[in-house]
Amino acid sequence: MEIIIQPTAEAATNVAARLIANLLRAKPDAVLGLATGSTPQLLYRELIALKLDWRKVRTFNLDEYIGLPPEHAHSYHTFMWENLFRHVNIAKQNIHIPDGLAKDIPQFCAKYERQIRAAGGIDLQVLGIGTDGHIGFNEPTSSLASRTRIKTLTAQTRKDNARFFGSEAKVPHHVITMGIGTIMEARQNLLLAFGAGKAHAIAQAVEGPVTALNPASILQMHPVAKACLDAGAASLLLRSDYYRWVYDNKPDWQQF
Ligand code: GLP
Repeated sequence: MEIIIQPTAEAATNVAARLIANLLRAKPDAVLGLATGSTPQLLYRELIALKLDWRKVRTFNLDEYIGLPPEHAHSYHTFMWENLFRHVNIAKQNIHIPDGLAKDIPQFCAKYERQIRAAGGIDLQVLGIGTDGHIGFNEPTSSLASRTRIKTLTAQTRKDNARFFGSEAKVPHHVITMGIGTIMEARQNLLLAFGAGKAHAIAQAVEGPVTALNPASILQMHPVAKACLDAGAASLLLRSDYYRWVYDNKPDWQQF
């Protein structure tokens, strides 16, 4: 995993935005895997400001709450439209977000997987990380080979996400999420984490053993995974001096 540590969330976001902008310029019909939560909000703001051409871009979101209609204020559909889609020239038919109201969820999940394959697979997947190490909504002990499916949120995640809903009681218990196996098939994974609240999860994911107890640790097995961190999220890394040196001295010819 390439560990990119920047002093602030803005600077770390800037690195991520440049990577995505380069991809969209090189491949205008790229397939992006997108994430929600507070972490990528800055990234989406920066991508909007870059005025890229999204006409042919295809997107697949990681997850959605079961039981929330798309127009619900706290659905990830609403999040994506508010934070990105309505500000860029993306074609509606190229947007894919799990359907929290799907009648037959296993069938819907199988179709989502087929749609990702039919699009040629995900070129770049944006990821945040939960304080318990989850990626998408793959909570600790998720199968490292899992595909898109239903998951039950942990008490910790429901507590963390209560800030969006106003109270913990309103946070749904169940979600649809891309699986860890699905995420691992993306050609590139780009993990963002900001703030000291994420430091423990990041230290475990980057320097701990690969374990289903910290689902993000599977990224150690991915050939092209980068983590863009601010100083807070990087604060518990044992080898941060090494990561900083590597990034600051990266030769121009080194692509990844
Ligand atoms: C959410 C999302 C994840 C996200 C994580 C962290 O519940 N399902 O995709 O990465 O939890 O959220 P935040 O960025 O708000 O800290």
